[in-house]
Amino acid sequence: MTKITVVNRGGAATEVAAQPGLSVMEIIRDAGFDELLALCGGCCSCATCHVVVDPAWSERVGKPSPDEDELLGSSDHRTATSRLSCQINFTPALDGLKVTIAPED
Ligand code: FES
Repeated sequence: MTKITVVNRGGAATEVAAQPGLSVMEIIRDAGFDELLALCGGCCSCATCHVVVDPAWSERVGKPSPDEDELLGSSDHRTATSRLSCQINFTPALDGLKVTIAPED
């Protein structure tokens, strides 16, 4: 079974099952993390699914699209490895991925 590690805003890390084909937002939301609001449901229009990708994974996860990049630009908490989790498609190549839920804007 593939997994990801999610670090919540309090700094606690939890390993959760991750099904390929889902977005990382769906995986986090379905695992019951209510800190990740994902208000737009994954349409890349709200930025409430902001996560910080562990730098060790950043290259494999890849860069945001121009639309995502613009939306991330509106966050006060953007970092070099910030992504909108609804825009990361989970594949087996990302097994073991670690992300931290970004502070609320
Ligand atoms: S869920 Fe709204 S941008 Fe990701």
